[in-house]
Amino acid sequence: MENKKIVFISGASSGMGFETAKLLAQKGFIVYAGARTLEKMEPLKNYGINILYLDVTDDHSCQNAVNTVIEKEGKIDILINNAGFGLFGSVEDVTIEQAKNQFEVNLFGLARLTKEVLPSMREKLSGKIINISSMGGRFVSPFGAWYHSSKYAVEALSDALRMELSQFNIKVILIEPGIIKTNWDNIALNNLKEISKDGVYRDFADRMITKFKKLYTHKFATKPEKVSEVILKAINSENPKTRYLTGFLAKQLIFLHFILPDRILDKILTNF
Ligand SMILES: NC(=O)c1ccc[n+]([C@@H]2O[C@H](COP(=O)([O-])OP(=O)(O)OC[C@H]3O[C@@H](n4cnc5c(N)ncnc54)[C@H](OP(=O)(O)O)[C@@H]3O)[C@@H](O)[C@H]2O)c1
Repeated sequence: MENKKIVFISGASSGMGFETAKLLAQKGFIVYAGARTLEKMEPLKNYGINILYLDVTDDHSCQNAVNTVIEKEGKIDILINNAGFGLFGSVEDVTIEQAKNQFEVNLFGLARLTKEVLPSMREKLSGKIINISSMGGRFVSPFGAWYHSSKYAVEALSDALRMELSQFNIKVILIEPGIIKTNWDNIALNNLKEISKDGVYRDFADRMITKFKKLYTHKFATKPEKVSEVILKAINSENPKTRYLTGFLAKQLIFLHFILPDRILDKILTNF
């Protein structure tokens, strides 16, 4: 009982966070799951998972959630920074306020939880921090300027963190999912529709929405459970990789990004 590893996961009310919390509980981890929508996490209780209110944009909420776990369990062995969403819209249409909020959730939220958890991990000279980035942290699509910027920033922050923490035996791991069937695309595409509604980018945005919908309903779009298995593999590995590219189109698109000139890739990403 005492040797069970303690996991804290953000964004556990839906999609990859929800499935990962379930899988880890089934594999014997003690799981604390956080998100703003407590009702959606109720079913996790059936797996013995502890649910916590968590808004990653709020300092106090992050402090309270982490303190609750540490007071009860004495430690957090694994932090999974998963909370995130896609703000899609043209650079011209998206307000700076909206853009700041994208960074508040996807980047600063991740940093807040990390900073809260680190003192106890350092004290124990062990721990794993798993940051859910995206294949979109390594290339950019139209209307995704702020989403991609936030995920590029997650990649950069994670790389720095990995080097800073290796002296404390704390491992930092990036997960870079491709096209995964969750609620993510609904939120991102609704944002794009709403933000572009009466503006000059509307036709282009509508075309992109149709293309994105095709991808997310494609028979090869990956189930979130597959990403949970990759996360489990990273957790169980003595010597985890620094980044795990996983899911539909992830490896192919990163390869194309690597080999193709920018303008050819631009054409592919706007006319697929
Ligand atoms: N689906 C994909 O194709 C894909 C691909 C690459 C990367 N990703 C990344 O994977 C992660 C998980 O996304 P998903 O696909 O599982 O999407 P999802 O089903 O929409 O889940 C997103 C989760 O983030 C939580 N969240 C959003 N804002 C939050 C906040 N302020 N505080 C706390 N939690 C918050 C949501 O919970 P509440 O709203 O209840 O707070 C929800 O549980 C995200 O970082 C996303 O960017 C997704």
